[in-house]
Amino acid sequence: TRKVILDSDTASDDTIAILLASKYFELLGVTIVAGNVDYNQEVKNALFTLEYIGRQDVPVFLGSQRPILGKWRTVEEVHGSNGMGEWNYPQPTKQPEKEHAVDAIIRLSKEYYGELEILAISPLTNIALAYLKDPNISKRIKKIWIMGGAFSRGNTTPIAEFNFWVDPEAAKIVLNAGFDITLVPWETAELYGVLSEEDWNHISRINTRLSDFFIKVNKTLKEYSSKNQGVMGSIHPDSLTVSLAYDNSIILESSMKHVDVELCSDSRGAMLVDWYNLQRNMVNVEIVLKADNKRFKDILFSALY
Ligand code: BDR
Ligand code: CA
Repeated sequence: TRKVILDSDTASDDTIAILLASKYFELLGVTIVAGNVDYNQEVKNALFTLEYIGRQDVPVFLGSQRPILGKWRTVEEVHGSNGMGEWNYPQPTKQPEKEHAVDAIIRLSKEYYGELEILAISPLTNIALAYLKDPNISKRIKKIWIMGGAFSRGNTTPIAEFNFWVDPEAAKIVLNAGFDITLVPWETAELYGVLSEEDWNHISRINTRLSDFFIKVNKTLKEYSSKNQGVMGSIHPDSLTVSLAYDNSIILESSMKHVDVELCSDSRGAMLVDWYNLQRNMVNVEIVLKADNKRFKDILFSALY
C-alpha cells in the first residue's frame, strides 16, 4: 500500500478526505494547518474523525497555527461554526502527538525515502516550512497532490481559491521547490467534485454510521454550495483530490505547465499558469483539468459502508 501524510485544516470535506486516505492508503499521519476554522477546533475535528472511523492509531501532529506572512480569515459560513456542520459531537479522547508537524513530515520523508506522498488539501504552510527547514525534502517525497489555486474563478476572492489565498507565500515556496506535483484547481473541483441532491439521497439510503457522519459534517457545506456556488448539492475538492491520487484513472485530462502564485493586493493568491510557455520556465505542475465525476462518487460511496 502507498504511504501518505494528509495535511489538513480539518472541517467538513477534509474529514471525508481523512476517511478516504485511511481507507485507500497507509495513512502515516494527519498534520494540522491553519485555514478553515479556529486552529484548536480543527485539531479537535481531526481527532474526533479518526476516533469515529476507528482509526485512533493514526497520529495527529500539530503544525503552523497561522500563515507565513499575511492575515487570513476563517470560513465558518462554509463549514459551520465548529467546521462540522454544527454537529455537537462528543469530546474525543484521542490526543495529538508531541512532535511538531513540520518535524514529522521531515522525519517520515527520511524513513520512507522516495516512497512517501503528501495529500495537501489545505493551505501549504506546513509543507513550505518543512522545505525551508530541510530543502532536500523535495527529492525524498515521491509526489505532492495539491488541492488549491484558481486561474479564472476564485471561491474566496474573484480570482483566488481559499487554500492559495490563505497562504500564497507558502504556495509560492512549494510550487518552486522542485517537488513532483499534481494539482487540482478550484475550477476542476467545482465541476467534477460535485455531489447532486440525488447523490445526497443515495448517501442517506446507504444508512450506515459513516453515511450518517458524511451527512452531518457536510450539512453547512451543502447549504453554502447550494446558496452561493450555483450547484444543487455540495462541492468536495479535498475528497476529489484524495480519490484521484488513489485512482489516477479519475484524471481524464491534465496539462504540464509552469505555475506560480500572485502575491499582490487584489489578485493576491491567484494562480498564474503560463499556458503557452511564454516565459520559458520549467514545467513544475501537472494541472488536472477534467476528472471522472462518476468514478469519484463510486470511490466515495464505497468508503461509506
Ligand atoms: C478548499 O478550501 C477549504 O475550505 C476546503 O477544505 C478546500 O481545501 C477549497 O477552496
Ligand atoms: Ca481543506
